[in-house]
Amino acid sequence: MVIVGLSPIAHESAVGILVDGKLVAAAAEERFGRVKNQAGFPHQALDFCLKRAGVTASDVDYVAYAALPFHRERMRDLAGYGQNIAYVARAHDDAPRKLWHLANFTRNMLVNKEWESWGGTERKIRSALRDRGLDKKLVYTDHHRAHCASAYYTSGCDRCLVVSLDGYGSGQAGSFYLGEGGKLTLLTTIPYPHSLGTFYRRVTQALGFKPNRHEGKIVGLAAFGDPAKLYDQVVRRFDLEHDDYYRYKSSQDPYFEKGLAERYSREDVAAAYQRVLEDVATKYIQHWMQKTATRMVACAGGVFANVKMNQRVMELPEVDQMYVFPAMGDGGVGVGAAFALHGDLRQLSPATLPDVYLGPAYSDADIERALVAEGLPFKKSPDVERDIVDQLVANKVVARFDGAMEFGPRALGNRSILYPAVEPEVNKWLNKRLKRTEFMPFAPISLDEEANTLYDHIDRVRYSAEFMTVTTNCTPQMRAQSPAAVHVDGTARPQLVKQRINPSVHRILRLYRERTGIPTLINTSFNIHEEPIVCSPEDAIRAWRDGALEVLALGTYLVNRPAA
Ligand SMILES: [Fe+2]
Repeated sequence: MVIVGLSPIAHESAVGILVDGKLVAAAAEERFGRVKNQAGFPHQALDFCLKRAGVTASDVDYVAYAALPFHRERMRDLAGYGQNIAYVARAHDDAPRKLWHLANFTRNMLVNKEWESWGGTERKIRSALRDRGLDKKLVYTDHHRAHCASAYYTSGCDRCLVVSLDGYGSGQAGSFYLGEGGKLTLLTTIPYPHSLGTFYRRVTQALGFKPNRHEGKIVGLAAFGDPAKLYDQVVRRFDLEHDDYYRYKSSQDPYFEKGLAERYSREDVAAAYQRVLEDVATKYIQHWMQKTATRMVACAGGVFANVKMNQRVMELPEVDQMYVFPAMGDGGVGVGAAFALHGDLRQLSPATLPDVYLGPAYSDADIERALVAEGLPFKKSPDVERDIVDQLVANKVVARFDGAMEFGPRALGNRSILYPAVEPEVNKWLNKRLKRTEFMPFAPISLDEEANTLYDHIDRVRYSAEFMTVTTNCTPQMRAQSPAAVHVDGTARPQLVKQRINPSVHRILRLYRERTGIPTLINTSFNIHEEPIVCSPEDAIRAWRDGALEVLALGTYLVNRPAA
């Protein structure tokens, strides 16, 4: 059975293909169109996925879409609006804030693009699918059920709590499911506007960053602030007296965050929001773990891009194992819709993903053509891993492009910039060269076999750490050896590399350890500033030039920047 999984096309358009329950291809449209979080129907990603899966449109049995039909989504919006008015009338909050909330909520409902176009998105999708003979194969899936299916069916755990948290999807902002025996049973949903995604998005915007894009910067910034200063003011906006899920009072009042941002340092504001997010999320995850007597939690949804919150979940005494789907945002929810549909139609047992190298790969001929077209002098290395390590030991920045592109927001060695993690100053000068925010920490990439000597509690997230989805506290050895990859709060967001999963990167790390005694390097995504991660050799050459990086390793081809 061949199922195409399609994400909503408002942002982060992406496609994945499941063949008999196995994810065989997946990619986001942004990598082809070169526009960050690209919206619109993902034509190029779909063409690629069909090709990689070795199927044509006529072989496709279903197209699973991670949203409900227009009228059902809007009915949920109206129901959520009605419920919320009743809730606000009873909630303890300042009267002006309640009024602002209701006025903004009403306005946001009325100016919603979906209402205005009266199903325009759905028509666009149907029309694009009709052109490919696929419109009759379209199946709608509840957005949060799709997020949960992406986490459950790739968790490798038969019985676990499954949680989704995001900004908004199918009228909701989150859900709790029990995954058991290959089936998902709904425990409760969190109706919009009680949205932790909205909560964090608003503070991102108030602090001068781009909402829906720069939330990760707030996580980085929070480590520099004091959460205690504003904690009480912020946590009071949540009503935590309910068993099933929290209520977020006055969620649509944007003036609250703006007021804080004007009066306090951005570090302290970020720290308070981060701490409240962590406390609210962990309280309810803990509650549902106790209630379902589960010891593993599988998670998806954009809020789980928050690696520090994930660490707090992982550290709960109830949690033996925590897993976050590598494409946790809406770029991965289409894949989840495909898993959900397959699980409904056939028996499907949760299995772990072998890897997420599910995107385009390029041949030597493709790479050589790109290098020749750019007029770059290159050498083909008989032992590229050893040559890369020679450069790293000489403190050269290596931009590495190899094999198939990663699915999801993280570069996991195949589209990565590598550098020693020894000198902490690298954060400043390399972020500047890559045109990124200077306070953002770089993440480490380490040999999996050394993980226990480097990261605390790593066995609870061993599988998830293959995909860089959670931070852990670092051991004294890690702090001493690789300070450039340890954040100011003593945490790091590691990628663990196993030999069988990425033998080439594993060999680079092994050779580097042989030379230096250190099993860790810095791994940051191969892109410049706000561009998506590179996809093709041509993208890689352009980003290498723009970033004035020293060494470009395209497969087994090496290019050195001429001395200035
Ligand atoms: Fe979502």
